[in-house]
Amino acid sequence: MNDTETQRRYDAACAIGREAGDLARKMFEGREANTFEMKGHQDYLTEADGAVERLITGRINELFPGDSVLGEEGGGSVGENTWVLDPIDGTANFARGIPHFCISIGFVSGGVRTAGVIANPLANEFYAARRGHGATLNGKPMKISGIADIRQSTVELGWSSRLPIADYLQMVERVTATGAGFRRGGSGALGLAYVAAGRTEGYAELHINSWDVAAGLLLVEEAGGWANDFFAGDGMTKGNPVLACVPGLRAVLSQTTGIA
Ligand code: IPD
Repeated sequence: MNDTETQRRYDAACAIGREAGDLARKMFEGREANTFEMKGHQDYLTEADGAVERLITGRINELFPGDSVLGEEGGGSVGENTWVLDPIDGTANFARGIPHFCISIGFVSGGVRTAGVIANPLANEFYAARRGHGATLNGKPMKISGIADIRQSTVELGWSSRLPIADYLQMVERVTATGAGFRRGGSGALGLAYVAAGRTEGYAELHINSWDVAAGLLLVEEAGGWANDFFAGDGMTKGNPVLACVPGLRAVLSQTTGIA
């Protein structure tokens, strides 16, 4: 894809991400407590997931009718040019009234993460990246943390009910045995954005879906970080393990999480 077409998609991702963020904020502020459904064990669904995804998909289809769209709620397809989106990442937080969730929109061309935006409307934070052009937070250049000592680091370790809790606890034990601090915020996309913003030194999860990470991985790379080959194999459609971190902690985190 040429530069002009890539720039058009980046600009569109920014505009759509902001519009979707406004809708998600209104729905969060206007919602009645505990109005959510469960898709499975510890797997939440809110009205906003569907409404925000419909908004984003509609805008993309209007602007780029030849592109493919893959969304968390509506599914879709993968093609040469694919938009990979999560309308509300951190749905459990949204559902329980915790203002730590985001809209994540990634654009992948020829298998390469090319553009990505993440909007956290409650924090008024808008993250954006275009391959080769750096990453920004609210328009200001973003850079990963300078910490390369694992004992000073904070690593976010994600969990979902898709894998046994014992596997997660073993990873927590191994990572924290190095002296690292750890957290779990409940939004993989924001977890990656935080690595890009230098707020944490790494994010790892033993299985996550492409819509949770398509934008965040590009943010980390463009902010100077390292990310694993997430799209390897069926990563786009079935998900994969994810590890993204400051380059200096790649070896120790690969070893302790088991994610190469
Ligand atoms: C989930 C969140 C969570 C991560 C899970 C995801 P959702 O996405 O990103 O932090 O650990 O793997 O499924 O359900 O909030 O869109």
